[in-house]
Amino acid sequence: MNLPMPSSAPLPPSANMSESRTSSLAHLLDWHVLDDAVWSEAIQRAVYHHEHAGRWTDAGRGRSIALMFFNPSLRTRTSMELAAAQLGAYSTTLTPGQGTWKFAFGKGQVMDGDEAEHIKEAIGVLSRYYDAIGVRVFASQTDYEQDRSDRLIHTIAESATVPIINLESAFFHPCQALADAATIHRRLEQPAGRKFVLTWAYHPKALPMAVPNSALLMAARLGMDVTVAHPRGFELDDGVLNLARSYTDNVRIVNDPDEAFEDADVIYAKAWAGSLVYSDPEREQALRSRHREWRVTAERMARTNDGVFMHCLPVRRNVVVDDSVIDSDRSIHLLQAEFRLHAQKAILEYVWNLR
Ligand code: CP
Repeated sequence: MNLPMPSSAPLPPSANMSESRTSSLAHLLDWHVLDDAVWSEAIQRAVYHHEHAGRWTDAGRGRSIALMFFNPSLRTRTSMELAAAQLGAYSTTLTPGQGTWKFAFGKGQVMDGDEAEHIKEAIGVLSRYYDAIGVRVFASQTDYEQDRSDRLIHTIAESATVPIINLESAFFHPCQALADAATIHRRLEQPAGRKFVLTWAYHPKALPMAVPNSALLMAARLGMDVTVAHPRGFELDDGVLNLARSYTDNVRIVNDPDEAFEDADVIYAKAWAGSLVYSDPEREQALRSRHREWRVTAERMARTNDGVFMHCLPVRRNVVVDDSVIDSDRSIHLLQAEFRLHAQKAILEYVWNLR
């Protein structure tokens, strides 16, 4: 079968986010446009907050953040609300369309449909009330160029006069990436050179690529020996792979999960959609359902170098990972989730220049 491959073009400028370098605002749209010093400092601060877990301070007193969730969340929402509170700041969580107006995004859009307010006004207003705005807005999974350029979060950033924090966009999840990096540092201490496997897993739904993209970039930037394992038809975007290869020469792709798990120090499982989702969702579903054996099992974990199991959560037990793995002491998924709180504090410190 001929499968459409993801674009091999470089990421468009908006996804490269080069403009955020020139912005005077400390947006956190993704780490890959920020310097190594910022990335390293954020990891150190997340580890520091883990070592001082439960400490409440006044560092962010007098600051406020609005959190807009266009999509559901457990961890990101609660950890960011609590991080703000533990730094002495105030947060408001908004679910667009549920208790707020529905927002339009289109340039030049004739707003004669359901949407009563344009995102430009919404973000303009919130910028005048709050000191930062967090936004979760997932991939469309219908418009690949919109998704790979992260157009929606860029439209929001362009309308803001306060820092925007990406709480998971179409292509990146920097909050998850920082928590994952800090978790790996905590667990492995010296991640460079250790084997990190990002393994595709079967899932009944076609999930976005933000987490796998960010996990790949995170592990590569830590200097890990990275293996990406997936069935054919589930390739990651070449622009993201090329970014990962700009951090380390050690990024390889395999199409066999048993081979991938050999001698791994970290198994990071994630489901994501195949590229067919953009052109033929029914064929993507059919192709995906042929790969139910892509599951993290105890037998596969036995191939690793006493490796740990990671997952960003939520996870489907006995579909993505067996109970015997996630309930074992090899699984650090809850430590990883805990680090979301510590990472959010580090992110608020960055955007508000609290240090
Ligand atoms: N991992 C993650 O972002 O979790 P939520 O979707 O629950 O926020």
